[in-house]
Formats: sequence, C-alpha cells, structure tokens
Amino acid sequence: MKINIHVPATSANLGPGFDTLGLALDLWNETIITSEKEFSVQVTGEGAGRLASGKNNLIVRAAQRLAEHAGKSLPPFHAECANQIPLSSGMGSSSAAILTGLLAGNALLENPFSREEILNLACEMEGHPDNVAPAMMGGLVVSTVEGGRVIAQKISVGMNVHVTIVLPNFYLPTKQARMALPKKVSMRNAIHNIGRTALVVEAFRSGDLILLGKVMSDKLHQPYRLRLIPGAASAMDAAKEAGASAVALSGAGPSVIAFSTGEAGVGESMKRAYEAAGVEARIFRLGVSSRGAELGSRE
Ligand code: HSE
Repeated sequence: MKINIHVPATSANLGPGFDTLGLALDLWNETIITSEKEFSVQVTGEGAGRLASGKNNLIVRAAQRLAEHAGKSLPPFHAECANQIPLSSGMGSSSAAILTGLLAGNALLENPFSREEILNLACEMEGHPDNVAPAMMGGLVVSTVEGGRVIAQKISVGMNVHVTIVLPNFYLPTKQARMALPKKVSMRNAIHNIGRTALVVEAFRSGDLILLGKVMSDKLHQPYRLRLIPGAASAMDAAKEAGASAVALSGAGPSVIAFSTGEAGVGESMKRAYEAAGVEARIFRLGVSSRGAELGSRE
C-alpha cells in the first residue's frame, strides 16, 4: 500500500477578505504514506528536524480525527514528507498538514468521506476555512461556515500575474496573530472591508490588476498585525514603490504577498525592507495553482 498526496500552499485573507478569501499557490507539500507497525513521520525540506516524528505530528492527528469521525480504528502508517511550504509563514503549512492527514486517513479507511466532508473536518481542525478551502479546491476560493459546514466557491482566476511572497525570519504563530485582533469592529470598518472583499474577487475573476490595487486595503486585521512584525509595513510600501499592483499580509503573516505584472525587483525591495528592520527574509516567486489537493502522482 502506497498513497501519494500533494497539497498546495495558500495565501489567505488577500487584504480585506479576512477568514473568507484564499488563493492556492504553486508550492507543494508531497507526502508518501505507507503501512507501518507504528505511526512515524519523516520530513525533508521545510520543517525538517522541527516537526514531530510520531503520533503528535499534525498529519497523524488529522488522520486520527477522520478515523474517529468514521467510528473506525486507523491502521498505523509511515509518512514521508517532502515539504516546500515553510512553517508559521502565512502560507498555509498547517492546512496542508491537516489535509494530508485527512486524505491519508480517508484512503486508508477506503474512502468513507467525500471531499466536501473532508473539507468540513479540515475547517473544524484549522478553525477557519480560508486556507483549507483553496488548498483542497485550488485557485481562488471564497468560503464561509454555516452550521458547522463549509460553503466554498471556487472562482476562476482570469489573471496572469506574478505572485511574490517575502517571508521574514520572524516567528509569529497564527494563534498569537489572532489574539492581537479586537473582539469588536466598527460598522465603518466592516463596510470598508465588505465592499472591497467583493471587489477583490471581481478583480481576480476579470484579471483586473489595477482594480485589485485599489481595493486591497483592510481595516479588520492588518493594522493590528503589522505592528507585531518588524519591517512588514515598510515591505508593503516597498513592493508598491517597486511597481507591484497590489500587496497584502499573507494570511496572518509574517510574510507579505505582492501581485505584479512583472517581477522586476518587487521581491528584492521587500526583502531589503525587512532587512532594514533587522530581519533576514526569503523570496518566493510563485504562480497561482488552479489545482488543489490531489492523491496519486502529479503530472
Ligand atoms: N484567516 C486566518 C487569519 C488565516 O488571518 O488568522 C491564517 O493563515
């Protein structure tokens, strides 16, 4: 028995679409699952030496959650992970691990659940749908939760765009980035975000980078989080100055995502801004992935 699972990175929020919008990116975690006597996980690439190697690994916990939901016992497995998605980066590494585990568990138990049901479980584990939905479905996904079930719609992206993510070497767990947010928001700020979120979706759908640049501002999460991340606000300014059309915090941060027609120095300018604040940074030049999580070998 051998199961191959591929799950893409994702960038959530996309400015105003807090907990609602997410985009799948062409950067993948690939995992091979084989039967074993005990649960074990071996990681190469991102997270090597840092992730749990046994039953506490998130992949194993997710597979166990699925088995519990199915009322079955899970046969132990070995997971061999080749990871491209950096940890705690704002690029969806925990969603990728959760989906990998759920898809592995589902396959090992002979597919008791549909992809829709797996997405519900993934959202329950992650706490919000905006990374797990595009990681599962690919492309740009608008998602919400109603009565514990995810409602998600994939929007076809009409945009041929350069995506640049710059990731500072600064640890900001999502939990901490969520704790920095206010419990209440003003009607004025809610209205600011609602209109822009709809327009971000339309900008991606119609391929209008100029519109995207006009509507990416956010008042619900970025102002609180940017204070926590040295260099992030100036990295966003630097990307715009270097010609990026639109820029936002990627997920909960600490990385920043920029959209541009050409790459021409956008990544380097963001990296320099982080470095000026005393933080090393890495540049990821990516494309949008129209494909989501897959089982089997990827062509
Ligand atoms: N919507 C989530 C947040 C994404 O901003 O906290 C976390 O990656």
